[in-house]
Amino acid sequence: MSTPHITSKKNDFADIVLMPGDPVRAKYIAEKYLNKYVQINNTRLMLAYTGLYKNKKISIMSHGIGIPSASLYSRELITEFNVKKIIRIGTCGAVRDDINLRDIVISMGACTDSKINRIKFNNHDFAAIADFDMIYNTAKIAKKMNISISIGNFFTTDSFYNEDIGMLNLLKKYNIIGIDMETAGIYSVAAEFHVKALSICTVSDHMIKKESLSSESRESSFHDMIKIALESTLL
Ligand code: HPA
Repeated sequence: MSTPHITSKKNDFADIVLMPGDPVRAKYIAEKYLNKYVQINNTRLMLAYTGLYKNKKISIMSHGIGIPSASLYSRELITEFNVKKIIRIGTCGAVRDDINLRDIVISMGACTDSKINRIKFNNHDFAAIADFDMIYNTAKIAKKMNISISIGNFFTTDSFYNEDIGMLNLLKKYNIIGIDMETAGIYSVAAEFHVKALSICTVSDHMIKKESLSSESRESSFHDMIKIALESTLL
């Protein structure tokens, strides 16, 4: 059962797929956290793996950058490979004074400057929201692991480079906790096909303080986010 973008067999994927943006990170997560993993896709080098985390079957697949890429992979996973839960594990920008590099932020919902959800929703505003049980379980696991998280509203943008300070201050005013490029798209695809999704991100860039994580420090701070995501799948 191949799709234009995924060359895998019908049962290759687990019900739950963790999705980083970067294929190299998907490989790293499979190697570091899964047992008995096998690579199940390399079309366009959008690597996917299925393996066991504490005996639970889990898949990891990268979704690339931006709503178009993340949406098409999520959609194909759901409609062609029977995936029921998607956990995006990514990076994001921040604008609030009290949100810092390396913080873990969880998207309860996501506004967007993309027009795609309006195109799909008869030109009305679609409230792109996370699955409540997934938020609840993730918060429970984070508390148990003593890892602090913030849960709130995201802004999903089509434009990574944003020097419009007025816009950044508007996001800050409206209490946006994370700025990414995929969540609003993944949440609307999940809603459309009646499956569950959650985005968990590590803050890698502070857009007002103009700070960024180096590529080395990205790796170590991702560990907590990945552990929370993996442990939440066991609940
Ligand atoms: N903006 C949008 N997406 C991002 C950013 C950002 O600053 N950092 C990581 N993903």
